[in-house]
Amino acid sequence: MPADPSHAALKASVEVAPSILSADFAALGSAVEEVIAAGARVIHCDVMDGHFVPPITFGAQIVGALRDRLPDDVYLDVHLMITAPERHVADFISAGADGVTFHQEATPHVHRVLQQLREAGVNAGLAVCPGTPIESFEHTRDLLDLALCMTVNPGWGGQKLIPSTVDKTAAIGALLDPATILQVDGGVDLATAPLVAAAGARWMVAGSAVFGKDDPGAAFQAITEAARAAAPTPA
Ligand code: DX5
Ligand code: ZN
Repeated sequence: MPADPSHAALKASVEVAPSILSADFAALGSAVEEVIAAGARVIHCDVMDGHFVPPITFGAQIVGALRDRLPDDVYLDVHLMITAPERHVADFISAGADGVTFHQEATPHVHRVLQQLREAGVNAGLAVCPGTPIESFEHTRDLLDLALCMTVNPGWGGQKLIPSTVDKTAAIGALLDPATILQVDGGVDLATAPLVAAAGARWMVAGSAVFGKDDPGAAFQAITEAARAAAPTPA
């Protein structure tokens, strides 16, 4: 059991979440341990089904294997890029995810899936692609632990952040309860992290800008420092 099972401090702080999508899948455990040693506390797991997005990555078994290997206070942040998430969320909860985020575009049952997650005691997250309107966040405000504004089109690492998503991030933030984590994902690096942090993003996913570097731990630390320096000071 983690010292703080609700992860309250982590949820309130500006965090860079390394995405394992860009790590060496044949050495996943040690790749993740390297960034944890550098201070990472949120590990982002990108689940793709070959249907909602073309690539297929991994499922609940890999998430469970990471859970078994990592310290309890490390938050496993599962990003489901899969169709009909309502059929699969239970598997990721059983695997030990701390939070599960699914896409608005992937189901007509957004409210029900959020309820399902909350009732299971995991953090409930809702994501939108860059071209998707943001009104759902208004209608689900009370059920959201995390709101994810995709800053690239989902499916692949290593893309450039789409500039219009920076203002969109701020617009989503204005709809949320202040306790809800505002997350961005895609194209976050040393140059763009300050932009999204200034727009109010609290958790920033970074894949290639961390695991694509020779020293992932140092890259993680530099991006975290840049993001925290640019984040608005709490009132
Ligand atoms: C993309 C994934 C991202 C991906 C980001 O669909 O959701 O989490 O790993 O990769 P970078 O940081 O390289 O843009
Ligand atoms: Zn992701």
